[in-house]
Order: sequence, then structure tokens, then C-alpha cells
Amino acid sequence: TPIAILISGRGSNMQAFIDAVQAGELGARIALVLSNNPDAGGLQRAREAGIDTAVINHRDYASREDFDAAMVARLREAGAELVILAGFMRILTSVFITAFSGRLLNIHPSLLPKYPGLNTHQRALDAGDSEAGVTVHFVTEELDGGPPVLQARVPVEPDDTADTLAARVIVEEHKIYPLAAQWYLEGRLQLSDQGAFLDGERI
Ligand code: GRF
Repeated sequence: TPIAILISGRGSNMQAFIDAVQAGELGARIALVLSNNPDAGGLQRAREAGIDTAVINHRDYASREDFDAAMVARLREAGAELVILAGFMRILTSVFITAFSGRLLNIHPSLLPKYPGLNTHQRALDAGDSEAGVTVHFVTEELDGGPPVLQARVPVEPDDTADTLAARVIVEEHKIYPLAAQWYLEGRLQLSDQGAFLDGERI
């Protein structure tokens, strides 16, 4: 199944997908890695893995909608049946979200619904939380608000900084994100008006 991965940065989650495909754990072909940022480190990693890459720079577009329409066109051209947001740092409009409704996953480094938006690890520390984690969710029009699919939890340690906590969380990101995608590719995962369903059961 052709999938596409959208990145803005270093692409360690993208790399986890590349590794999962190579290990035979993910029944997908990564048809395209697309970035809004020409300097995203992940582009080079994708090229080294022999994956097609594209840059669509949001700065070249007059509106978010125009930018989103250009990405939709490129993703359709690539035949993407599932779109994976992996550290993609642009807010998407309904132009994009409706085009891939039910076929669009994101990973967010908090235990949603806690801490949508940025600086999640610092916010968890500031709140004195005893655990932190990460959520894979379907993308809907509400920012970081779509139905959760899978979460992983880690303890917060007394001496944690945002960086040490992030390092503990990202190990889990790299495990759960390809797993959630594999559920989708096996036809086990669906988005409906009622939420996310796994094997016909509401998650
Ligand atoms: C990850 O923490 C992810 O949860 C968040 O952005 C970061 C991307 O990191 N959405 P990487 O580019 O995958 O290394």
C-alpha cells in the first residue's frame, strides 16, 4: 500500500517507518516523503533510503489553503492511501483534512487530551505530572483533537528536563507509530463520526 510521510524536521519518526518497512513489520511502500521545509534533515535520510522526496514550501503560497491544495495534488499524484504526519509543523486547513479524512494520522508527544500544541514536555514537568507519554491520533479539524488511536506512557523522573523526558518519550513514539499505521493497513482501524474504531470496537 502506498503511503506518504510529511515532515518538517529531523524525521526520526519517519526513520522508524523506513526501518519498519525494511524489517517487514509494515505492509506499506513509502511512496513519498514530503516536507514544507527545504532544510528538513529527514529529507536527506529519506533520499539515502532511496525514497522519493518533495518540498512544497509554505512560504511560496499566499494562503494556507493554497499550500494545502498543492500538497493534496502532490500526494494524489504519489497515490498515497495513508498520510502520516511525523513532526509536520504546519497547521492544516479543511482543504487538506477533508481530502484525506480517515486516512490521516498524527503523533503528538503528550497524553492527549492533555497538552495539545507546543512545548508538551515542559508543560508536563511544570504541572508536576508523574507520567508523560505520546498519542497517535486521527487528524480532524480540531488541532491535536482528533480521536486517539494508541498511547504509550513513560514515568517522569525527579531530575527530568524537557530534553531528558523527550528522549524517553521518543523511544516509545518510534514503536507505537508504525504499529498504529500497520493496524490501519490491515483494515483494522477506522475513523467514523463516533470516533476511532479498532477491530470494530470503539477505542
Ligand atoms: C516528535 O516529538 C513528534 O511527536 C512531534 O514532533 C516530533 C518530531 O520528531 N509531533 P521527528 O522529526 O520525528 O524526529
